[in-house]
Parts: sequence; structure tokens; C-alpha cells
Amino acid sequence: MAIKNKAINYRLPLCYEMSSAEVQQIKGVLAQLQRGDLVSDEQFDACLNAFTKRHTATHYTPCDVALEAAQFLCAEVGPGHRILDVGSGVGKFCLMGAALMEDVHFFGIEQRSALCTMADELADQSGLNNVSFLCGNAMNINFKDYTGFYLYNPFYEHLEPFSAIDETIDLDEEYYHIYCGYVRKQLQGMPKGTRVVTYFGGGEEIPLNYDLVKQLFHNDLKCWERR
Ligand SMILES: C[S@@+](CC[C@H](N)C(=O)[O-])C[C@H]1O[C@@H](n2cnc3c(N)ncnc32)[C@H](O)[C@@H]1O
Repeated sequence: MAIKNKAINYRLPLCYEMSSAEVQQIKGVLAQLQRGDLVSDEQFDACLNAFTKRHTATHYTPCDVALEAAQFLCAEVGPGHRILDVGSGVGKFCLMGAALMEDVHFFGIEQRSALCTMADELADQSGLNNVSFLCGNAMNINFKDYTGFYLYNPFYEHLEPFSAIDETIDLDEEYYHIYCGYVRKQLQGMPKGTRVVTYFGGGEEIPLNYDLVKQLFHNDLKCWERR
């Protein structure tokens, strides 16, 4: 089956400039994290524009979940490590991880250009230099370029189209299986000790050579490690 939205760096000519209040907000939220203080989802949401804010409750990782996931992915790693969020949305997980772990670089790949634009603006304004976003399809990513992976059920919209953020993506159940199969194959070939965190989803992206080592948040957050 041909994947129609497969191009990497596909991006609408969108740009978005945060207001000075929103810039202060994202800087404040990340500084709070760096001091070791908790931040609330409402505080993060206050940095977002109207379009991206509409999806906070259902599509972006809650702050407490993001912190647990980043801590697990970075626990055994040091400088030079690269964590990839597959389907990064507005970049909430990556920004929070990057604020916490300054020696680790967080990358996000996101297919919806409006979300990439918001994520880019947040990254630019945050002052963090260890977070980057790519706009395109995760099918074009070579997982060997990264050392750890986060997935918040990115392909679910192909099973339940009513859950989709918008109508800019061709939805088809077959894509779900193609995308999960691609991720599974990429993860299968990663070195021993590679860590993956999934939030929601049935674990179809996880190959058999990974162990489930921890579950949190009513078992919705699953921490995996390559044998
Ligand atoms: C549930 S949201 C999670 C957002 C972010 N990871 C977070 O935790 O806040 C899933 C995201 O995956 C993106 N996505 C789905 N399929 C994708 C693909 N094949 N390539 C890139 N992004 C994809 C969607 O556009 C959506 O923004």
C-alpha cells in the first residue's frame, strides 16, 4: 500500500510567533522544572496557541507522566544520548525532558505541520539547546540515529478516526499496521539495553525481544528494555 503522506520536511508555510507573555510562561515553566519543582498541565497549556491548546486533554502527555518517562529513558544513559518522541505533537514530552536532562538531546518527529510549528517556536523561545523537532513521517526515520524512544500511541487515529487531531492526514486502518510494523522492525534491530516507553496503546510496536520492566499510571505507561 502506498503511503501518501510520507515526505519528510513536508511543512505548510506556517509560522507562529508567541506573545511576550507566552514566552515568559514557557521560560518560567522550564525554569521551574530545572529547579526540581513540579509543573501543572495548566501551566504548560498557557504557552500554547488556540489551535494546539484544543487538544491538550487528549493528545499531549501529562506533565507527571512525561517526567517519569524521561527519567526512565535517561536513567542509564549519559552525555551524547538521543531520545526520539515518535509523533511529538507540540513537543511537550521533549521540552520537559530537555529541561530536566541537559546532557541528553531530545528529538521529536511530527507529521502535522501546525504542531511542528508550535513545537519549533516553543523550542526557540525556551532557550534550551538540547531539543529539536523534525516535521515529517516517522516512516522516514532511521532509529539507529537515536538511543531511546517514547511513543504516546501515535498511530491510534488510524484505528479510531474520530480521535484524530484534524483532517490533514489520510486515515486508514492499514496504515496502523504498516506504521507499527515499521517501528517494531526498527526497534528489533537496536542494541541490547535500548529503552522504550509507551503511553497507552496495545504495545503492537514493541518487538518480542523487549522486556516489560515497569508499569505506572494504572499500567498506561509501560517501560521496556531490549534484552
Ligand atoms: C497522542 S499524540 C502525542 C504527542 C506527544 N508525543 C506528546 O506526548 O505530547 C500522537 C502524535 O503522533 C503524530 N503522528 C501520528 N502518526 C505519525 C507519523 N506516522 N509520523 C509522525 N507523526 C505521527 C500525530 O500527529 C500526533 O500529534
